[in-house]
Amino acid sequence: MNQPITIVRLSPDSDHVATVASWTFAEWGHLNPGYAADTWREALRRECGDGGVPSVFVAMEGDQPVGTAALLAEDMDSRRELTPWLASVFVLPEWRGQGIASTLIRRVEQEATDCGVHRFYLFTPDQQALYRRLGWRDHEELSYRGEEVTIMRRQLEA
Ligand SMILES: CC(C)(COP(=O)(O)OP(=O)(O)OC[C@H]1O[C@@H](n2cnc3c(N)ncnc32)[C@H](O)[C@@H]1OP(=O)(O)O)[C@@H](O)C(=O)NCCC(=O)NCCS
Repeated sequence: MNQPITIVRLSPDSDHVATVASWTFAEWGHLNPGYAADTWREALRRECGDGGVPSVFVAMEGDQPVGTAALLAEDMDSRRELTPWLASVFVLPEWRGQGIASTLIRRVEQEATDCGVHRFYLFTPDQQALYRRLGWRDHEELSYRGEEVTIMRRQLEA
């Protein structure tokens, strides 16, 4: 039987850093052609702050990581004036459609609220509907690294 999903902060010395990096490198590594897998993993490790920006969270089923999401200062080098960002939202294929990404997104929103952020951003090529349902609004459409994407923004209550 499945155990309940818990959301935990990813610490830089966790064995799960390599696992999470392998997922996100497979999904988005092509957007950063200068990064090899080990450079990608060490960049993720540096994003594992102990509170506020940056922070990385992992959804756990027992001791197995099944999804991730992050709160980062920068995620789009052509929009450096926008900060911070919800980034790297990913759930393993066999765990999708159960609300795990939504729970991770809510956790990142809580982290942003707790550190005094009133508005933050994300970009997505194809998951606008998921974020709109969670209260995100379209901010700008643009072409980024060869893909048509939407920047979305979330206004947070203090
Ligand atoms: C996009 C992604 C993160 C969504 O993860 P997820 O855990 O399936 O997301 P959720 O379950 O929270 O929501 C997805 C769907 O499940 C539905 N859902 C939510 N809770 C549910 C539940 N308890 N039972 C059944 N379905 C549920 C949602 O309504 C939503 O419906 P949709 O398919 O019409 O959009 C995942 O598909 C993924 O990792 N994709 C590849 C990476 C990616 O594209 N990341 C986003 C970058 S912007």
